[in-house]
Amino acid sequence: MLIDGHNRVVNYLRVSVTERCNFRCQYCMPDKPFSWVPRENLLSFEELFLFIRAAMDEGITKVRITGGEPLLREGLDKFIEMIYNHNPDVDLALTTNGYLLKQVAGKLKEAGLKRLNISLDSLRPETARQIAQKDVLKDVLAGIDEALAVGLKVKINMVPLKGINDDEIVDILDFCKARGIEVRFIEYMENALAKDNLKGLLGKEILEKVKEKYVIKKVGREGSSPSFSYLLEDGYKFGLIDPHKHDFCETCNRIRLTAEGYLIPCLYFDEAMSIKDAVQAGDVPRAVEVLKTVLRDKPKENRWSDTADQTNETSSRAFYETGG
Ligand code: 5AD
Ligand code: SF4
Repeated sequence: MLIDGHNRVVNYLRVSVTERCNFRCQYCMPDKPFSWVPRENLLSFEELFLFIRAAMDEGITKVRITGGEPLLREGLDKFIEMIYNHNPDVDLALTTNGYLLKQVAGKLKEAGLKRLNISLDSLRPETARQIAQKDVLKDVLAGIDEALAVGLKVKINMVPLKGINDDEIVDILDFCKARGIEVRFIEYMENALAKDNLKGLLGKEILEKVKEKYVIKKVGREGSSPSFSYLLEDGYKFGLIDPHKHDFCETCNRIRLTAEGYLIPCLYFDEAMSIKDAVQAGDVPRAVEVLKTVLRDKPKENRWSDTADQTNETSSRAFYETGG
């Protein structure tokens, strides 16, 4: 079992396989980065797997593949298969923008993928285009349909933005409800790269919009999930991810690995340690040592919370390097 310096059990590893993306979402990567990480700096799937396998043997039971946009990395199904074959019981999930999903959903499912989180910020083609800065809606919807058709468990992520898509909160909820899939509304997280003047909605503002149509009941956080669950009267469940709330970090169970091999204990801090040299030398014990050091030093909470010092400070690292 892996336990961090604040006595939290860490069993969840998020792995970003590329920071590249085919969208330019206003809240994440509005402009093409000045330069991408050169391909030769990326860890190969074999190298990433060496670390993931060791981490699973140490107590990681949930692995999520993220990006950038992970489907841009070729051979992803083989990578998923490697993880699945080592432990078919691992909770194996992927976060994607859905644009390329229609073509690969079946292959991913066959490789052992269990769950998918897909971003869907709008059901209006023009608004979706405004947010992603590309005409994406048709392909994303086709991707969602295909994922459901091949039997993957799907959740939808929506980031409500003031004056852009905040009038669609109920529409997205109804879209998901009609398909029996959970939607998670995510508070916009301020970051240095996002488009200027972008304003998100706080959790309570998001809930107000839902309450305009539905009566809702609080359920709570499930396990270590960052998402707080709510129920509608008909039993439909949705989630709210609210990193600005004070208890958000209390049950944090996760660490992140970037495509270049940096282990990141917390999304909101710059601290990171590389496992690259260790895995490239095939020195798994050294990689595990790095993992344990990172866990020991994992911060207690982010700096946005209503009980912390409210600096609104965040890491200078882009979310697309760590997969959010
Ligand atoms: N604020 C909130 N959510 C974000 N995501 C990316 N950047 C941000 C941000 N600044 C979320 C997207 C997507 C997932 C990959 O991360 O909604 O669903
Ligand atoms: Fe790409 Fe996802 Fe960032 Fe949008 S939020 S730019 S889809 S990585």
